[in-house]
Amino acid sequence: MDIKKIVVVGAGAMGNGIAQTAAVSGYQVIMTDVDEKALERGKATISKSATKLAEKEVISEEQKAAALGIHTSLDLEAVAEADLVIEAAPELLELKLKLFAELDKLAPADTILSSNTSSISLTKIGAATKRPDKVIGMHFFNPVPLMRLLEVVRGLATSDETAAVAIDVGKRMGKEPVEAKDSPGFISNRILCPMINEAIFTLQEGIGTPEAIDTVMKLGMNHPMGPLTLADMVGLDVLLFVLEVLQRDLGDDKYRPAPLLRKMVDAGYLGRKTGKGFYEYGS
Ligand code: CAA
Repeated sequence: MDIKKIVVVGAGAMGNGIAQTAAVSGYQVIMTDVDEKALERGKATISKSATKLAEKEVISEEQKAAALGIHTSLDLEAVAEADLVIEAAPELLELKLKLFAELDKLAPADTILSSNTSSISLTKIGAATKRPDKVIGMHFFNPVPLMRLLEVVRGLATSDETAAVAIDVGKRMGKEPVEAKDSPGFISNRILCPMINEAIFTLQEGIGTPEAIDTVMKLGMNHPMGPLTLADMVGLDVLLFVLEVLQRDLGDDKYRPAPLLRKMVDAGYLGRKTGKGFYEYGS
């Protein structure tokens, strides 16, 4: 199947990064969101990122123009034109199931419906549609324009053809696709989230300051950013959600979220996106 038009659902950090990367890779892209402000913020982020990448000659002026020319829509009916949908809405189970039932009604019968979910079962998402063979996980990493990995996750009913298309699109977007089974957290978050959770326990127990914990992992293990800085970038609500999925669906309390993480989410300290997490951020 030849993919030409991609509709990205959701203009947040992941959605706008995916839309930008797809546009600079030669796809026709429409980015949708229910919130006009979110669409504007998404476009502004794309403009900043594409300008920076063009200045550094990572992308050409034509590619930058393609990113700046992304169409936007407040109407999910935009998927009527899509060969491939990449959903990057908030990480909430009920919302995603409802959204996929809706996408199934609005998109042409042969359109592939993919999700950027970080932890929700693709089998469950597929079952919300009448085309589970055409549903697949395309899990990108933040910041999408820079991170090389694409985790490709098949649900129980996903066809080989759908997987081949997702892998092909990922490669054309400059990513290195890696296949993972549909298991809680897939490969990436099964490993990453418990590591960050342990960093939060370490903070909670007063073993080190946030700066000390991050410095240990940066300078001692050569991580590009410390786990608490990374948590703030990922979003503490997303992290809590993934840990809850791991604990519940793997039935193992070793994944229990640190109480401090829960408290911070309750307080609305969600990281970079709210201006405060383990660190504070200017506007
Ligand atoms: N677009 C274009 N340029 C960008 C950018 C973007 N989105 N984000 C950062 N940059 C640029 C910066 O502006 C900076 O440019 P200058 O050197 O010209 O100032 C350059 O990239 C380097 O950035 P920094 O100096 O700020 O920091 P860095 O060297 O540490 O690189 C990073 C930034 C690539 C984000 C690096 O810190 C990194 O790889 N961090 C780890 C990221 C990671 O683990 N992501 C996965 C999160 S998990 C996830 O997403 C999935 C999930 O399911 C939870």
